Amino acid sequence: MKVLGIESTCDETAAAVVSDGRVLSNIVASQIDIHKEFGGVFPEIAAREHLRVILPTIKLALKEAGCIKESLAELRDNKTIDAIAVANRPGLIGGLMIGAMTARTLAEVLGLPLVAVDHVYAHIYGVEPAEMRFPLLALVVSGGHSTIYLLESPTNYQILGETRDDAVGEAFDKAAKILGLPYPGGPSISQAADAYKATGKEQLLPAPKLDNPYEFSFSGLKTAFLRRAQEMAGGNFRMSSDEVADKLADEQKNELAFVFQESAVRILLNALEKAAKVYRPEQIIISGGVAANSRLRDKAHEVFGACGADSGASKLLLPERALSTDNAVMIARAALAMGLPKTAPRDLKVTPN
Ligand code: KG4
Ligand code: ZN
Repeated sequence: MKVLGIESTCDETAAAVVSDGRVLSNIVASQIDIHKEFGGVFPEIAAREHLRVILPTIKLALKEAGCIKESLAELRDNKTIDAIAVANRPGLIGGLMIGAMTARTLAEVLGLPLVAVDHVYAHIYGVEPAEMRFPLLALVVSGGHSTIYLLESPTNYQILGETRDDAVGEAFDKAAKILGLPYPGGPSISQAADAYKATGKEQLLPAPKLDNPYEFSFSGLKTAFLRRAQEMAGGNFRMSSDEVADKLADEQKNELAFVFQESAVRILLNALEKAAKVYRPEQIIISGGVAANSRLRDKAHEVFGACGADSGASKLLLPERALSTDNAVMIARAALAMGLPKTAPRDLKVTPN
């Protein structure tokens, strides 16, 4: 079975062809350089950019996979793919509509089955499905979501907890902005934190206390971070967040980035560890853009390596970095793993939240 995956929920336009576990092509057109000057994703510009590049991106993915030579129309007579999978939820409305309309039109014109996929759930499939063993715990950490899933199988799963407010990626982005570091904040914070010479005596930011141990809250972390930054900048708590960066030396920024990253990683892994002790999964997966973070990856190996036997988790699986951030391989893989559940093209809806 060969599936074309399409992803356009945020600021990446992506297309990929996956055939029974093998990635035949993986094209990602990133808009990061376009949004950098705004310090975050500008939804209207994102939508226009998706519209501009979606067909060339799909064509390139099909060409690289050897499914077409030149034109999409070749697929009408020559069914070199078996289905089209598209992320139709959640995300920015403009990008969702462009992805869904493109997928829907192609499915109708070419007479191919259409599969609608949840983008957040699909992040789990940054990992190769053949490597998965169930029951499985998955932590998806991205710019819009921080969610712990429990999977009995690809079609039988539940959400144990998600964030009540900001997502962890969003918190990374906001912390970077306060420090005057470029968007996206995750890689910027990580780079600044690496440049800091840690003493081990740094005081971490407070972790929230929530009734559900598998839920997250990052808005308090963001505020605590701003307070610490204002303090180090020698100002009072009324100093606006835009003024802080200019009053901080590079070494102070690096320290703040380090403290933020350590605090965020601790919050994520504490919740996952608690879930692992209760649900004793065969496997643990951490995916989503923030799973590209080296400190999170190293610490996860430490935590789940050390208490693997105790938690019942015999293996931690992390997607390669390029499949942690947004891509269309995960969309096609999720559709395949779920058994290609069909949606009639005319019934395809998009759901931003
Ligand atoms: O999954 P993703 O590519 O898009 C969404 O679905 O949101 O995640 C993007 C998020 C951004 O907030 C970005 O700052 C964060 O992932 N991110 C990172 C790293 N690389 C990307 N966060 C921490 N460390 C990184 N190395
Ligand atoms: Zn994502």
